Amino acid sequence: MCGIVGYVGSGKAAGIIVSGLHRLEYRGYDSAGIAVYPQGADHLQVVKTPGKIDDLEKLMLTEFQDPAVLNATIGIGHTRWATHGEPNQVNAHPHMSGQGNFAIVHNGIIENYRDLKLKLEKKDHHFRSETDSEVLAHLIEECYEGDLRAAVAAALEQVEGTYGIAVICKEHPDMIVAARKGSPIAIGVCDDATIVASDVSAIINHTNKVIFLDDGDVLLARKGDIDITSLKNVPVSRELTNIDWDLTQIEKGGYEHFMHKEIHEQPEALANAIRGRLVVEDGTSKLSGMQMDAYELARIDRVLIAACGTSFYAGMVGKYYFEDFADIPAEIQQAAEFRYRNPIIQRDTCMLAISQSGETADTLAAVREAKRKGAIVLGLCNVVGSTIAREAGRGVYLHAGPEIGVASTKAFTCQVAVLAMMAVALGRTRRLSIQAGRQIAESLQKVPELAQKVLDQEKAIITVAEKYAGVQDAFFIGRGYMYPCAMEGALKLKEISYIHAEGYHAAELKHGPIALLEENVPVFACCPDVPGKSKTIGNMQECRARKAPVIAFATEGDEEIAPHCDDLIVIPRCPEFLAPIPVVIAEQLLAYHVARLRGLPIDQPRNLAKSVTVE
Ligand code: G6P
Repeated sequence: MCGIVGYVGSGKAAGIIVSGLHRLEYRGYDSAGIAVYPQGADHLQVVKTPGKIDDLEKLMLTEFQDPAVLNATIGIGHTRWATHGEPNQVNAHPHMSGQGNFAIVHNGIIENYRDLKLKLEKKDHHFRSETDSEVLAHLIEECYEGDLRAAVAAALEQVEGTYGIAVICKEHPDMIVAARKGSPIAIGVCDDATIVASDVSAIINHTNKVIFLDDGDVLLARKGDIDITSLKNVPVSRELTNIDWDLTQIEKGGYEHFMHKEIHEQPEALANAIRGRLVVEDGTSKLSGMQMDAYELARIDRVLIAACGTSFYAGMVGKYYFEDFADIPAEIQQAAEFRYRNPIIQRDTCMLAISQSGETADTLAAVREAKRKGAIVLGLCNVVGSTIAREAGRGVYLHAGPEIGVASTKAFTCQVAVLAMMAVALGRTRRLSIQAGRQIAESLQKVPELAQKVLDQEKAIITVAEKYAGVQDAFFIGRGYMYPCAMEGALKLKEISYIHAEGYHAAELKHGPIALLEENVPVFACCPDVPGKSKTIGNMQECRARKAPVIAFATEGDEEIAPHCDDLIVIPRCPEFLAPIPVVIAEQLLAYHVARLRGLPIDQPRNLAKSVTVE
């Protein structure tokens, strides 16, 4: 959700924090703020504003004119995605304690904040904002007896809920205290500085050596020096992780939007996701992160997939793979359902958590529940060192590179490719023949080419986007492997273009939604030349009979389909199981160009956040 950056070192904290916040803006972006402590000053200097980091920077030009403020070497900053209290200046972070001696930035939710607030009000604390986070600032002040680390730990002991926090205090101009429970905190340690952030992208222009806090950890950070303990002040040691993303990977590289860049990165991302993992000769794949030998793989008798958003739709494709390639019964559930539905987990059930960020709260909770019930838990994440990856303990990384645009793109196609590789590995421990395995592996090798061929269709897709950019409603339909694509196509369009779009199984349309069809409600039919095509064509005809324009995602050279649709978006010919990759890339381009033509903030759509770390 929100983004946190803290800096203590020899550099100019304000500038460093703001540039870090820019990189984190995708996590939340409805208001922002910064607090620094100028040397020798008698108070912490705070600036906050509704809006984006650009608005914060403008305000800093007027509010931070004093060179002492600009030269301050310690500070914390925040970009917010509101949970409690509307996004305005008062509710923006950092929040100050009553006396103004402490400033905190917080991600997460303090669930018992009302009780805590009442208790603090009785002790004469007065609150300015409607946020849960401000309560924490006051609570820390209440617990303070000269030791900042101890005060933060004592306050957190009273807190129910989740937090990633960073705190500075007027009496300790050389230290930041940070802590985590359910909301990530990464630490970059350089010779002359320590940077604390909710995400490594704010750190890697300073260092690629990063340490991640675990839940319950408290960090005391000074310039180039850190000390991690538990809440009870017992020292703990955390591993150093080497992050191999570089800055050019998280910058836009000439594209107008991250989303556009990430769509175009798919040939390369897919090549990275499969590199060194396919063993074509044996018709299988080698995914060492799964840490399972053939005996263990063969034992799995059920796969339960939990995920949210776009990852959920990739999981739907994965379910078909596990059933088709490996003959293993597979189910998929929204992670939020999984955690509360008391799922049945038997001894050899494998729970697969899919999450680009590796931080989604519901998916993480599903992992914990599955572990509690004794499942074999695997994580399928993109972000190395993320909480789900670490808590699952084993799994597969996507290697898709950083995904910054809020709408997930390259993560989806890489998740699909990795799921196919997982299913093949499982299949080869049972009834999938070496020949069938080889065919799958050989097709997977060509996936980067397939992605490139769709990207080459961009001009034609723009023409379709121009025709339909003005509509208010749209439907996406598909069946079999195309059903998840219909769902993902609708999700992509609605999240960035704000067009009301719904995905349906092609056969379900007539059970209700068909009542909504009319001439200005386009139906996008995912209908490549794969089994089931003729049935989908039948459903397209039903739509056209209600005057709805039909746009088909169809296979190049398929002459049968043209008479049944108003417009065509062509995808390259490929085996049925791979068709989700080109079809979804075409949908991504369509959604992107519709949103661009509507002049919308594509990388940061309203009300959304890249990483949803609240329930
Ligand atoms: C948010 C994002 C979606 C993403 C979903 C799951 O809602 O806006 O794009 O698909 O979270 O994220 P995850 O990181 O778990 O894949």
